Amino acid sequence: MSMIIKHEKLNKWVREAADLCRPDEVYWCDGSKEEYDRLMARSVRSGSAIVIDKRPNSFLFRSDPSDVARVEARTYISTPKQIDAGPTNNWLDPDELKSTMKELYAGCMKGRTLYVIPFSMGPIGSPIAKIGIEITDSPYVVCNMHTMTRVGTKVLDVLGEDGEFIPCLHSIGAPLEEGQEDVPWPCAPMEKKYISHFPDENLIWSYGSGYGGNALLGKKCLALRIASAMARREGWMAEHMLILRLTSPGGRQYHIAAAFPSACGKTNLAMLQPTIEGWKCETIGDDIAWMKIGPDGRLYAINPEAGFFGVAPGTSYESNPMAMDTLHENIIFTNCALKDDGDIWWEGMDGEPPAHAIDWKGRDWSPDSKEPAAHPNARFTAPASQCPVICRDWEKPEGVPIDIFIFGGRRAGVVPLVNEAYSWDHGVFLGATASSETTAANIGDIGNLRRDPFAMKPFCGYNMGDYFHHWLEMGDKLGEKAPRIFYVNWFRKSAQGKFLWPGFGENSRVLKWMCERIDGHAGARETAIGLLPDDGGLDLAGLNVAAEKMEELLRVDMGAWKAEIASIEEHFAQFGDRLPERMRQQLEELKNRLG
Ligand code: OXD
Ligand code: MN
Repeated sequence: MSMIIKHEKLNKWVREAADLCRPDEVYWCDGSKEEYDRLMARSVRSGSAIVIDKRPNSFLFRSDPSDVARVEARTYISTPKQIDAGPTNNWLDPDELKSTMKELYAGCMKGRTLYVIPFSMGPIGSPIAKIGIEITDSPYVVCNMHTMTRVGTKVLDVLGEDGEFIPCLHSIGAPLEEGQEDVPWPCAPMEKKYISHFPDENLIWSYGSGYGGNALLGKKCLALRIASAMARREGWMAEHMLILRLTSPGGRQYHIAAAFPSACGKTNLAMLQPTIEGWKCETIGDDIAWMKIGPDGRLYAINPEAGFFGVAPGTSYESNPMAMDTLHENIIFTNCALKDDGDIWWEGMDGEPPAHAIDWKGRDWSPDSKEPAAHPNARFTAPASQCPVICRDWEKPEGVPIDIFIFGGRRAGVVPLVNEAYSWDHGVFLGATASSETTAANIGDIGNLRRDPFAMKPFCGYNMGDYFHHWLEMGDKLGEKAPRIFYVNWFRKSAQGKFLWPGFGENSRVLKWMCERIDGHAGARETAIGLLPDDGGLDLAGLNVAAEKMEELLRVDMGAWKAEIASIEEHFAQFGDRLPERMRQQLEELKNRLG
């Protein structure tokens, strides 16, 4: 569509990108339903997408088998000095990286359309929102961005003639020569994939992958990596956190933001169905929180996204009924299986597996097949507005005031069900040392423990030591108004290897204790690692968990904690002199308390 764009800098950037990538045409996206329908119809005609009859306006895409997930090994934080990217990020010199990528971009959109996607992360016009412009040659990316962000001409109106935007350049890296036939999921080989961030310039360059966070540049690239660096400079926070509202039977609202690494049930917690009488939970976001200090001195959070890009396998009416009820229409499924009745399927869905299906690679599948029918990282892209428990204030431009931060991970032992930090600094220490076991198969194996500070290891756009420092500074600014910090572990196991805590809706009992703590209604016992519920502190009414199990869930195993110290010291050592002194002090205090 032709549009008169009055923003000179934007026009110039698009012209330069087109000169470099040499697409057949340039198309400015308007974010309309008509545009979405047209691109989907074209994808169906070309064989890239399959109509899912059972769910109105829903489609299935199958990716190339080499392009199925975020590629952390090909993701770069490119700052002039390597130390500013820090020990947890891949780094390349910006000039070198740009010159390598310019060679790849040269002519990379031949035979394709260059789409310009103006999008807002956060409600359009919110004081916390930011505008990005993604250039891409993938219609799949355009349609996903329609759902995951706010796309359209309104964004250009807000941008005006000289508004600030974050340029996000993306190509799948698969030019088409004259007469060359296209494939359903074009992309470049692994060694040519680059997901590059230039935080000093607020710039994103992505090449070679069409999948998820590699290609939908508003999400991990902009809203976490680039935004975290902006947030540090500008005094706010961009975090890998879900946001939820919990309402007590008396009508008091609590807002909770929680950070967990992948595969720890973040989307499930965001859509929790409380099992305790009279409590209500509503979803505000399931992956990212942007937070600013408001005029009253409290910390306000928005969800910068407009949709959920959720992991499909394991999602069921048992694990997450609200997610299942979000998926009835207007969904993009990627790498799910296709049943003979025309509906999608994945491992872990309710009921019996189908006797026959087409797997994510397009092959016949039966329960006897050796490989899963859906890829383990198969996804659904769903509008957040379709979630039955979406909070009515989820798009409030000023956000919601956060009362509670939660960190956590998946640990078979050592870490109790819940503990509260003694102070903000102690809470930052809990976030900085957050850990998770990588795979279920290896649970209990200490060798597979991964420290994932604040669940931001793959997403922090600068030196993680400086990031800890930023958290400390935010606490200093918030003072008495800072959210209280808790740490949870839903995954502790018995000596027999069985989960001790039922999880899911029952997690509401733990959240209730947190709310009572901040209201001063619940006591706690002081332990070496933090404040734990005292006897009778957790509301266990109607819950069938044996007393010995509860005791184990809330046990502080002094020996096991002492054994953790070496791993925390090793983790901290990588940050050298970028590790804040206050973190070293917290470690000393923990050691002293452990005796
Ligand atoms: C995600 C992730 O996809 O954290 O949200 O990997
Ligand atoms: Mn995530």
